[in-house]
Amino acid sequence: MEQFDLQKIIRENILKLVPYSSARSEFKADAQVFLDANENSMASAWNEYSRYPDPLQMKLKERISELKGIDTKNIFLGNGSDEPIDLLIRATCRPEVDNIIAISPSYGMYKVAADINDVKVKEVLLDDAYQPIVANVLEAADTNSKLLFLCSPNNPTGNSIEPAIIEELANSFEGIVIIDEAYIDFADISSSWINKIADYPNVVVLQTFSKAWGLAALRMGMAFASEDIIAILNKIKAPYNISLPAQQLALAALQDTVVVANAVNVIKAQREQLINSLLQYSFVQKVHPSDANFILTEVNDANALYKYLLTRKIVVRNRTNVPLCGNCLRITVGTPEENQFLLQALNEYTA
Ligand SMILES: Cc1ncc(COP(=O)(O)O)c(C=O)c1O
Repeated sequence: MEQFDLQKIIRENILKLVPYSSARSEFKADAQVFLDANENSMASAWNEYSRYPDPLQMKLKERISELKGIDTKNIFLGNGSDEPIDLLIRATCRPEVDNIIAISPSYGMYKVAADINDVKVKEVLLDDAYQPIVANVLEAADTNSKLLFLCSPNNPTGNSIEPAIIEELANSFEGIVIIDEAYIDFADISSSWINKIADYPNVVVLQTFSKAWGLAALRMGMAFASEDIIAILNKIKAPYNISLPAQQLALAALQDTVVVANAVNVIKAQREQLINSLLQYSFVQKVHPSDANFILTEVNDANALYKYLLTRKIVVRNRTNVPLCGNCLRITVGTPEENQFLLQALNEYTA
C-alpha cells in the first residue's frame, strides 16, 4: 500500500482544525505549584484525583508498548473501542456525502456510529462460510468510501477472516481499513495485524480491555496505526478522554498477564466443551466454529429457545433477525459454573 495518501481521506476541516490545547498538554516539565488549570485541590477526600489526568496517557501507553512491541506514537486509547470507531468516522466522512463499508453480519456499532454522524453504510454480505467476498466489497466501494470495517474474529459469527482476504482488501481498498480484533486473544492461531501497521499506513487495528482482559466496565479500547492516523485521532478526541482511575486500573491490570492468559485458556477449553455439548441436542442444527469467547449456534426455533432460557433466568443473544443468522443464538462462554447452569437448562428443554 505505497500510494496511500492520508490527506485525501481526512476531512478538510479536520486537517485544518486547531485542536484544543489543554493546560496539561501545554506544560510538560516538573513544577511545584500548578495554578494553570482551574482545579481545586482542597475539597476532595480523594486528593489524588483533583488534577486533570495526562491527556495522552503516556505511562499506560509505555506499558502497552512493552507488551505489544508497538511504539507509543502508534497507540491511541479511547473510552472503549467504540470511541476510535466514532472518531475514525468523524475524521474521514462528511455527513450525507461520504460512506463507510462494513461486512454483514458484523458488530452493530459501525452502523450506529455512522448513522449518528449521518454517514451512509454500505453493508456487504459475507459468504456461506462467513468470509468476505473481496470482489463484492471492492465493487461496493466508490470514491466516497472512506473506511472499510473488518472484524476478525467476527461478531456475531465467531470465525476469523482468512488472512489472505484481509491482505487483499488492505492492498486494494483505497480508504482506511479497520481491523477490529476485539476477540483476537481467543483465536487459536493469532493472526493479529498489529505488527503489520508499519507496512500498511492505511490500516487501523482495534483491540480492547473488555474481552480477554476481563475489564468491560473499565471502558478502555486501543487503536494501533501509523503515527499520522494516531495524531489525527488525538487531535479530535476530547482532551481528557481517559480518566485517571481508568488509567491507573488499566496499568495495574497489565501486570497480571499470567492471570489473563490462564483465564483465556480456561475459556477456550470451556468453549470446546460447550460446542461438544451443544451438538448433542436434537434441537441444535449447527454450531459454528468459534475463535472468540462466544458461540453462534443455529437451533430449530431461536425465538422459542431464547424465551425458554429467559424463564430459566439465562440471557443469551437472539440473532435470528440478523442477515445469514436465521434461528441463531449467540452464547457467551461463561464461567464453568455458568456454562453448567446453561447446559442443565438445555437438558430440560423440550423443543
Ligand atoms: C467486535 C467488537 N468490537 C468492539 C466491541 C466493543 O468494545 P469496547 O467494549 O472496547 O467498546 C465489541 C463489543 O461487544 C465487539 O464485539
